[in-house]
Amino acid sequence: MSESKPLSLDPTGHARRAEEAALHAGGPAVRADLLGVTVWAVNDPDLLRLLLTDPRVSKDPHRHWPGFPERVLGRWPLDLWVSGQNMFTAYGPEHRRLRRLISPAFGPRRVNALLPRVEAITAGLVDAIAAAEPGVPVDLRRALAEPVPVRVIGELLGMPPEMADDFRRVVRTVFDTSASLERAKANRAEYFGLIDLLAARRRAEPGDDLTSALIAARDEEGDGSRLSEGELRGTLMLVVSAGYETTTNLLDQAITALLTHPGQLALVRSGGVPWGEVIEEALRYEAPVSHLPLRYAVSDIELPDGGVIRAGETILASYGAAGRHPRVHGETAGGFDVSRVNKEHLSFGHGPHFCLGAPLARAEAAVALPALFERFPEIRLAVPPDELRPTRSLVSNGHAALPVLPHGR
Ligand code: HEM
Repeated sequence: MSESKPLSLDPTGHARRAEEAALHAGGPAVRADLLGVTVWAVNDPDLLRLLLTDPRVSKDPHRHWPGFPERVLGRWPLDLWVSGQNMFTAYGPEHRRLRRLISPAFGPRRVNALLPRVEAITAGLVDAIAAAEPGVPVDLRRALAEPVPVRVIGELLGMPPEMADDFRRVVRTVFDTSASLERAKANRAEYFGLIDLLAARRRAEPGDDLTSALIAARDEEGDGSRLSEGELRGTLMLVVSAGYETTTNLLDQAITALLTHPGQLALVRSGGVPWGEVIEEALRYEAPVSHLPLRYAVSDIELPDGGVIRAGETILASYGAAGRHPRVHGETAGGFDVSRVNKEHLSFGHGPHFCLGAPLARAEAAVALPALFERFPEIRLAVPPDELRPTRSLVSNGHAALPVLPHGR
């Protein structure tokens, strides 16, 4: 347990690898500075699993983070991450109520029903990439990794297509943890405006979509006992934010890993390793969400190594470092190996807040990755790997751009 100066986490995401090494060296839970808030960065998978299922750990700042909201709201650039009115920031029965309302929309039946749309959307995007002139780089982040989830979530929510670009822009800024407080505040206001516009459109013209279903849940009981207006907005915001950037990063990182490990790609192309295994290794190797803000100790929690997380202290789930933990994955933890036997990771979280969209995200990747690599046998990066720049974020783990030459030249 480290008692020294907290490890400062770089909000631009440029120090990810060095920070993971420092976390592993510092112990299962390390004191770290998250843009001015001191947190316990939990990076050991066993401890993380314990805490994520411990009722003494809450995600509700109103009840369990002393000083919230006075010290945080409008004063901390990441306040949107902890203040949304939705399941993400709820605890106990409130969490169960909010999660139950939308979980049917993400079950296997609904995901299977969406599959033909995922395939059609992907096929259209791959056709557009194929039309690129030889020698002209294509940014796969913009041409594939972003639009697949953006369009799928758009259809799920009944979002008018002309709103998608605006939503994409505000979500990018939510994940940009280097944004100034002023920019974060302006972005938050714009985001709420877009959510209200979406809700107004579906309220006027309901459809067979999740937004209309949530509005019905809100309006059925006029007293808001099932879903308040704030929770309706908060839940829509959560689905858009959680569904866009994360899946984009999974596609971006899986493609990057394969293009920079030609032996692994050859193995996959030959049918030696199924795509499902590639997806799990990509999730482990480059967790799309590196760190997840924030949790709070409801009461003192003694840690297995003798330390204590005091009531009211904050906990950061360091999913990226957990996936690369040498205690679990040995000396090769930092390597991309689609054949490794143990690919365990916590990249979709664990316990009551386990990612609701995990089956959908896996399904999107299982369609998009083979579609890309089958269509472009010669595809390669258009720049040396060390010229790829990370997204400016300590939460979102992707690249600012992913230039490739789809035709290999
Ligand atoms: C590769 C893609 C994805 C990754 C890596 C990912 C990751 C995560 C993680 C780590 C959590 C747990 C947060 C915590 O620690 O409390 C989470 C929760 C959540 N995710 Fe995902 N996610 C992905 C895709 C999606 C998609 C496509 C959707 C929906 C369209 C979605 C919706 C949610 C929701 C609603 C929660 C909150 C669950 C709760 O608090 O009970 N996610 N996700």
